[in-house]
Amino acid sequence: DWTAGEILTEQVELIRAKVGTDKVICGLSGGVDSAVAAALVHRAVGDQLTCVFVDHGLLRRGEREQVEKDYVAATGIKLVTIDAQERFLNALAGVTDPETKRKIIGREFIRVFEQAAIGVSAEEGGVKYLVQGTLYPDVVESGGGTGTATIKSHHNVGGLPDDLTFSLVEPLRTLFKDEVRLLGYELGLPKAIVGRHPFPGPGLGIRIIGEVTFDRLEVLRAADAIVREEMTAAGVDAQIWQCPVVLLADVRSVGVQGDGRTYGHPIVLRPVSSEDAMTADWSRLPYDLLARISGRITGEVPEVNRVVLDVTSKPPGTIEWE
Ligand code: XMP
Repeated sequence: DWTAGEILTEQVELIRAKVGTDKVICGLSGGVDSAVAAALVHRAVGDQLTCVFVDHGLLRRGEREQVEKDYVAATGIKLVTIDAQERFLNALAGVTDPETKRKIIGREFIRVFEQAAIGVSAEEGGVKYLVQGTLYPDVVESGGGTGTATIKSHHNVGGLPDDLTFSLVEPLRTLFKDEVRLLGYELGLPKAIVGRHPFPGPGLGIRIIGEVTFDRLEVLRAADAIVREEMTAAGVDAQIWQCPVVLLADVRSVGVQGDGRTYGHPIVLRPVSSEDAMTADWSRLPYDLLARISGRITGEVPEVNRVVLDVTSKPPGTIEWE
């Protein structure tokens, strides 16, 4: 059994041996894996690494700031943020079909990341390596293949074009999620990043059932922030796998709020317990926590007049609604 300290020392040496004095780029998603992979590479080769974070406008409240401030403060990493919110919203206008949304978001993401990579590479005088936060289970799932730049498809980044080839640096390839978390703490990353629940690449775009618009995103962001705040305050984060918060944007129901009738939208809570996301059970969160969440969302988010709990296991339901 290896300690996180030993893994760190070994990986730093391996990365240095591989990369030498060449430049490296890494796309940050805000998730644990890319954050730890980048921090590890930064520990090994310092400012030879540049990170790129694409803000597609489908992020949760505070996520971009968390990467730009907390993560950069903890690591000292060079970070380029690409503000692509308008581009993604324009591309998603009028689209309601889940798979179409995923394809559009994936396609736009590649385009934006590719542009950014070309820019960084030009500025840095040629980037040779691309860091990916591939874990051991990802390697097994994809048949153990290695090669040039294909970003794992379940991150909805289907791969970079052939004329933009990087060699891959995948320092987490032999590790499981819990080992990656330990390594993250060993690297001094904040709990807000290392302890983070999984969040899908397409972001809130697949948690709005119906067309994705800025106003709807704002409603969902407000509700989601309340859920996360209350769950953290209740100390249940470590007990569950994740809790998607979903806005049924095309559904309306009658309610009574304040001094009158309302005709608002439902918010769905989808707390699940799981080992690997292949199967899941709905989490039996404490009733008083659910009551606080419901009371706060309907009290603080005027567009929402109903909060419902998803009590479906996976299968038959998937964890995400789209
Ligand atoms: P489902 O909905 O298939 O989700 O039960 C299983 C797990 O995968 C996450 N998920 C994604 N993660 N890109 C990702 O990086 C995606 O497109 C994506 N879709 C689902 C989901 O949050 C859950 O943890």
